[in-house]
Amino acid sequence: MKKLVDKFGRVLDYLRFSVTDRCNLNCVYCNPRDNKLNLLKDHEMLSNAESLRLIGIFVKHFEFRKIRFTGGEPLAGKNIVNLIAELKPLHESYGLDIGITTNGTLLKAHLDSLKQSGVTKLNISLDSLDKDKFCKITGKDKFESVMDAVLLAEEIGFQPLKINCVVMKGINDDEILEFVDFVKNRNINIRFIEYMPFSGNKWCEGKFISYMEIKDIIEKKFRLIAFGENNSEVANNYHIAGYKGIVSFISSISNHFCDGCNRLRITSEGSLKLCLFSPKYQDLDMKNYLRTDSFSDTEIAEIIEHKVQDKVLMHPDISELLKLEKNNMLSIGG
Ligand code: 5AD
Repeated sequence: MKKLVDKFGRVLDYLRFSVTDRCNLNCVYCNPRDNKLNLLKDHEMLSNAESLRLIGIFVKHFEFRKIRFTGGEPLAGKNIVNLIAELKPLHESYGLDIGITTNGTLLKAHLDSLKQSGVTKLNISLDSLDKDKFCKITGKDKFESVMDAVLLAEEIGFQPLKINCVVMKGINDDEILEFVDFVKNRNINIRFIEYMPFSGNKWCEGKFISYMEIKDIIEKKFRLIAFGENNSEVANNYHIAGYKGIVSFISSISNHFCDGCNRLRITSEGSLKLCLFSPKYQDLDMKNYLRTDSFSDTEIAEIIEHKVQDKVLMHPDISELLKLEKNNMLSIGG
């Protein structure tokens, strides 16, 4: 077994795996159109068996221990609950750190089985604490389902339990302090995420609010105490005295964190993606190799290792990103 290292010496050991491009919400910043017409067909995505094999290659050949399932919405469409249950032998042998990023709408009923399968890390997207505004942002009347799942997940003891809040000026930036208040007596990490441009999401500077501005709003009322500096951590984390929860900022746009990047992504099409912002044509379709009998796991590992040498040092900055063809968040999962 060896480490997977890119040409800048960064050790890659964290896999983000998008299991489907389907999503039951239409969030303005992610999936604004009902894009049902363009959804992948089943055979265009990896089967559970193919997914398990591919994850196994990363775990056994390259010491990947951290896997996060994303979508679209991972609990919509394909049976991810089974996939994670089937991952158990690998988890038991290698001690994986398994997470899911979900919109929370379908989560409540699955919390117990996910916990039993070894999922510890839950990130739930929630951009408003107001039912009507939640409807406006997501296009669906599902606020209660998400809130119920958040509260139950905390009660069951998922740790860490994170709420991802994409902050947009004029849309939900008036709720920043309410979100901070929400974690006062809860073991929850509220993460304020900078709004990023993706295909069809109508990103514009007017709606962008930087993490420094968000932090300033909070610091007018609270003293934020930084902790846990970690190079591969995407969030800057803060305690507030007397608060059970944690407040974090993810500054992908204003202050990128490419130096410590330890990530690779598998898109819902089953392609290896080297950077959240790398163009689609650079992705490597792993289905070709997984579906041809002649490639052994070792050969597929070599193909991955070779491809990883193309990983760039940092993604272009925002003015460049806006000129490029934008990625579709639904197939990458953040
Ligand atoms: N900008 C910032 N974050 C986004 N996410 C989805 N689209 C965007 C965007 N345009 C976040 C979601 C989810 C995570 C996977 O990525 O809130 O929690």
